[in-house]
Amino acid sequence: MKNYPNVMIFDHPLIQHKVAILRDERTGMKQFRELVEEITTLMAFESMRDVQTVPVMVKTPLEVTEQRMVPEKSIVIVPILRAGLGMVNGIHTLFPTAKVGHIGMYRDEETLEPHEYYCKLPDGIEEKTVFVVDPMLATGGSAVDAINALKARGCKKIKFMSIIGAPEGVSKVAEAHPDVMIYVSTLDRELNENGYILPGLGDAGDRLFGTK
Ligand code: PRP
Ligand code: URA
Repeated sequence: MKNYPNVMIFDHPLIQHKVAILRDERTGMKQFRELVEEITTLMAFESMRDVQTVPVMVKTPLEVTEQRMVPEKSIVIVPILRAGLGMVNGIHTLFPTAKVGHIGMYRDEETLEPHEYYCKLPDGIEEKTVFVVDPMLATGGSAVDAINALKARGCKKIKFMSIIGAPEGVSKVAEAHPDVMIYVSTLDRELNENGYILPGLGDAGDRLFGTK
């Protein structure tokens, strides 16, 4: 895959360790859900490196000091339903006051084209830093369309986080949205003929919610 300035692949040993367990077909729903959250938290720490902070005055037991804080209402998490829901708590662990918007997308199993079926976003999202989350970035169609929907709504500061990315999907989002920083914990080899990521982990939504 080409090097894109707006793509960060983590390849951190701790993330590699957790992704290896996540992929294993023997990993059950509870552990799968916990791992998705933990990996998201590890990624969120880095992806929040450049979020806005503002000066605040804090009174310690000894003196008043100027410190910096992330404004409470400055961050919105937007999971792409369903599987993105599994990543929300991973960010809330670090930043509990983030509001949550939802975009529902499903992939047509034949054409692999994404279809939006739901969109509910918090008022004022245009001014916030928006973290779009979806554990799987396969063809990239769902991510590109979700980001298009947010831009149409007026959002200007958008980041995209995914746990496993296929080179095809990462390139597609990076090229369609060069202004959006894309964080992928692990880059996989390729897509199969059904649009599944190899080696991947199977269907993330089904493994998170036990639907198969
Ligand atoms: C999966 C996944 C992504 C999408 C990725 O969702 O969670 O949203 O596929 O594929 P793409 O990059 O080729 O668009 P799916 O459509 O299976 O819906 P689900 O989350 O409800 O299971
Ligand atoms: N969606 C998934 O859940 N898994 C894949 O491998 C591709 C798309």
